[in-house]
Amino acid sequence: MTEQTLTASNEGAARKPQKAGLEGIVAATTAISNVDGQAGRLVYRGYDIHDLAHATTFEEIAYLLWFGYLPTQAELATLQASLLAQRQLPAQLLTILRDLPAGTAPMDALRTAVSAGGMYASVQGQPTIEQAIALTARFPLILATFHRLRQGLEVLEPRADLGYTANYLYLLTGREPGAEHVRGLDAYLVMLADHSMNASTFTARVVASTASDLASAVVAAICALKGPLHGGAADKAQEMLTAIGSAENAEPWIRATLTSGGRLMGFGHRAYKTTDPRAEELREMARHADPVGFTFARHVEELAVAILDEIKPGRRLYTNVDFYSAVLLSSGGIPVDLFTPTFAVARIAGWTAHILEQAANNRLIRPLAEYVGPNAQTFVPMEQRQERQ
Ligand code: COA
Repeated sequence: MTEQTLTASNEGAARKPQKAGLEGIVAATTAISNVDGQAGRLVYRGYDIHDLAHATTFEEIAYLLWFGYLPTQAELATLQASLLAQRQLPAQLLTILRDLPAGTAPMDALRTAVSAGGMYASVQGQPTIEQAIALTARFPLILATFHRLRQGLEVLEPRADLGYTANYLYLLTGREPGAEHVRGLDAYLVMLADHSMNASTFTARVVASTASDLASAVVAAICALKGPLHGGAADKAQEMLTAIGSAENAEPWIRATLTSGGRLMGFGHRAYKTTDPRAEELREMARHADPVGFTFARHVEELAVAILDEIKPGRRLYTNVDFYSAVLLSSGGIPVDLFTPTFAVARIAGWTAHILEQAANNRLIRPLAEYVGPNAQTFVPMEQRQERQ
């Protein structure tokens, strides 16, 4: 058989539909969160993210997203006990994580483990809050277990005396984290827990709308989150800061990247046409957590925003959540390739809230495509087809 290069014909499909990327299309009604991209405002169930960021814990926010109201002390204690009870991995999952090929990316490990876990844990059938709690409890565990195994370290048992965020840090590092680190990561998890109809949440809702199970919808969401235009951008933002390397190199690096058609990671957003409110909070947190890293990142940010405005006038490109996430997570000792998985540790709360909301009032999500291919072609039988040159 002669070797052939396989090239698909995408002719015509490159033409963008009127609403390319479904921009501006309302795909669902939701009572979970709202993004006002013009005002730079994010609310969870009516509460402003600036009010929640430092005054609540991730568990409280998960409760708010799932149940619709902020918990009392007793309600929170019940949720914490449920999360604690689910903080364990089936033995088969440990084997799967141990057998992953060397060099497996953590997002791929998470996707594999959640997919496999869906088969023998109670996350199938009609989506329920109990299933959402079980998966949320297991995310940090899966990632920390994978991270320790890939370093040849002993896998640690979760500690009943530590909360969700402290446990994640403890299981990753083997050290009891300081209160400040826990607070910083908790605020990060709170701010990234939900964001209306982002790409991964939409993906989860599409899968849920087919009456599939919760684990399958979450696996699909993980696949969407890992792309560099979505959650994968925090790793890339850190790589960009590392590549820039010095304050003097920032301007030539940014200009060279933009003039060669590249994108600046951690900048721009489909919804926000002003600074992302989460980026404002994260900027202040990074200022305190890592003053040196902050000063450099701030310099890059100021230059990037000005040069983007010059080279891409009118596009209104500002810092998004991923830019200062990179600085904050680095300062907290989270390895770069765990940035996006840590985003998932937060977003599992939002994904599952949306899956539950979709399932409770479901209609199959099935949009249309504008057909731009050829019409009325004459069929040619195989024996009469000419080889392509
Ligand atoms: N760097 C350089 N140019 C950018 C840019 C960026 N980060 N983000 C958008 N643009 C430019 C595009 O090149 C395009 O320019 P053009 O009009 O000359 O073609 C214009 O702005 C609109 O881009 P488009 O891709 O249509 O915008 P969008 O709303 O679909 O994009 C993102 C949103 C997030 C995908 C985009 O801003 C991006 O790629 N950002 C970098 C990745 C990132 O940080 N993602 C995390 C999002 S939270």
